Amino acid sequence: MLTGKIIGLGSYLPPKILTNDDLSKMVETNDEWITERTGIKQRHIADAVEDKVTTMACKAAKAAVEDAGIDPSEIDLIVAASTTPDVLFPGVACYVQGAIGADGCAAFDVNSACPGFIAAYNTAQGFIETGNAKTVLVLGSECLSNYVDWTDRGTCILFGDGAGAAVLRAEEGLKNSFIMKASMKRGDCLHCESMKQPKRVDEEGFLQSTFMYMNGKEVFRFVVTEIPALVEELSAKYGFSIDEVDHFVFHQANRRIIEATAKKLNVPLEKFPMNIQDTGNTSSASIPILLTQMKKEGKLKKGDKIVMSSFGGGLTWGANYFVY
Ligand code: UT7
Repeated sequence: MLTGKIIGLGSYLPPKILTNDDLSKMVETNDEWITERTGIKQRHIADAVEDKVTTMACKAAKAAVEDAGIDPSEIDLIVAASTTPDVLFPGVACYVQGAIGADGCAAFDVNSACPGFIAAYNTAQGFIETGNAKTVLVLGSECLSNYVDWTDRGTCILFGDGAGAAVLRAEEGLKNSFIMKASMKRGDCLHCESMKQPKRVDEEGFLQSTFMYMNGKEVFRFVVTEIPALVEELSAKYGFSIDEVDHFVFHQANRRIIEATAKKLNVPLEKFPMNIQDTGNTSSASIPILLTQMKKEGKLKKGDKIVMSSFGGGLTWGANYFVY
């Protein structure tokens, strides 16, 4: 069975940093509250001129291609995930194609909010399994700071900007092992209707808000129930033991969510790498940013068994099992 193995990883985090103390000067909050409730100490914020979703994506993509040691002309497909693209079209993947010089390959975007990287990765795996692509670049890039209400302390403390990318190469190996789900029944607790459509607002009651809306408590409750259940379902479906997994590379949304998941799965917290303290929640970019950091720190070894999982607007959630 052909499967896409990660052969290169790269990320980009904008240099500007917003600390909890900085935030306490903007809204009524403090470092102690944010640290205790979320685990976040700081987040990277895109510069309004220098950093765009596309430019961040291109930088992460170039780093991943360099890390893979391939020539961009070898890439057959680019799949980009973004919930916050700079323009309606062309897709972020097309900008990346132009920037890295992979002219002629297929390139398109997916939007699945925070699990966007999982959606992009599994789309790529479908192309690989069917022999339609051998080398694929998948990435997530987000500029959430453009959509956060900086007067709402319930949401603005959580999010950060950045991009992460991975190069997949077809090899003989384990069948791509994943589960993805969505439930619009719970869609009203996390959404962003940033594109104003004045006529439709009048006619169909579309909301006019250009900011992200989140009912944090609802999302929290949903995640700590559904994500452990999903990991158990994944292990039963693909026949691997949760105890044998080396790393649970999870969406970095809240340290307490990760702690609760580890507890429910009865897995030591040390198996859940975290960088949320430095990055905040970077939506679809969070998993590839974390994987890149793990590789740079020598924490990823060939043969390591990994579960990656994410959740977000939709609500959507998903998980993969793979051997690095
Ligand atoms: O990618 C997926 C995206 N979303 C998530 O993963 C979100 C999941 N949810 C969460 O991470 C948490 O629900 C939050 C961190 C957003 C909030 O934590 P919480 O423990 O659920 O707090 P809460 O909303 O229940 O608020 C508790 C109290 C409230 O005050 P009262 O009513 O008890 O007096 C809030 O007004 O804390 C207050 N509060 C704050 N205080 C200081 C809310 N935000 C803040 C703040 N600083 N930033």
